[in-house]
Amino acid sequence: MTNEPEQGATPMSIMDSLVRGDRAHPEWLWRSGSLVPWAESSIHVNAVGHASVASVFEGIKAYVSHDGAGLLLFRLDEHLRRLYESARIVRIDIPYGIEILRAAVIEVLRANAYREDVYLRPWAFPAGIVQEQMVPAGVICELVVDSWTFQSGLGTERGCRAAVSSWTRINEASMPPRVKAFSNYHNGRLAMLEARENGHDWPILLNERGKVSEGPGACIALVRDGVVSTPSTTSGILESLTRDTSITLLRELGHTVVEREVDRTELYLADEVFFMGTGWEILPVTTVDGLQVGDGTAGPLTRQLDTAYGDVVRGRSPRHKDWLTELPF
Ligand SMILES: Cc1ncc(COP(=O)(O)O)c(C=O)c1O
Repeated sequence: MTNEPEQGATPMSIMDSLVRGDRAHPEWLWRSGSLVPWAESSIHVNAVGHASVASVFEGIKAYVSHDGAGLLLFRLDEHLRRLYESARIVRIDIPYGIEILRAAVIEVLRANAYREDVYLRPWAFPAGIVQEQMVPAGVICELVVDSWTFQSGLGTERGCRAAVSSWTRINEASMPPRVKAFSNYHNGRLAMLEARENGHDWPILLNERGKVSEGPGACIALVRDGVVSTPSTTSGILESLTRDTSITLLRELGHTVVEREVDRTELYLADEVFFMGTGWEILPVTTVDGLQVGDGTAGPLTRQLDTAYGDVVRGRSPRHKDWLTELPF
């Protein structure tokens, strides 16, 4: 499968091929109150552009349970609550209550008859054609629930090379990182492009105070002398649910976790460094700015967390069942 336009393809034939479904996509998505076939869920071309500046979204995962009996949505309500919080901060109105959103997510999973791990993306965007550049407060939104399957990295040998970015993390005084807005990702994308250009996998962004904040799609933590440290929620980060989950699980495993300001050079001296996010899961960092972390593979505490996280999201652990919404096959 490819997203590359064919030789000599016109804009219309490219669109036709997308609508025909030459690209991996689900059969159904949920849009503003009902399931709609993916290929029929279009908007006018003038509805993109400035409208997307005010759009907010969530990223939620549903894992196949360890016994294969069904899908388990991880921390669904907390993710949906964060979507409302993002919308509140940017002052757009999501015209649906949480019960409707919860039902929409489940409807999408059922309609597409998924039997694999699924990533779900509920997102809200100002409805209609936005004439005003700034998108006025209180504008009514459309709400979409999109989805796709993914390959989990949990329990596999993996790692990434990270580098501190020359780009500064957006901050509370300009573009609050606490809001999960598409527009915030311009910052992370620039940092990601720079990291790739320089032969690394992912950037680590420092905040306006020069302290460590997060990666473009995940929070970060380091282990030094057995103590886990992670930037506080006022360090210019998204209030990550995976970060919260990791703190809880690490403490249950008997480890000390401190939320505080973190210096760049602490990353250079760390025994272990890892990213945490719904999409990235628990991703070990093997080098920072070219300096090897530990022995260059996932450290023991990172592995312990990876296992504990996998056990919880797949329902293998007897703990934290309240984080799971079960959907039997
Ligand atoms: C910028 C950023 N930080 C952190 C995270 C991790 O948040 P969560 O664990 O809630 O997925 C994400 C996830 O998408 C993100 O985009």
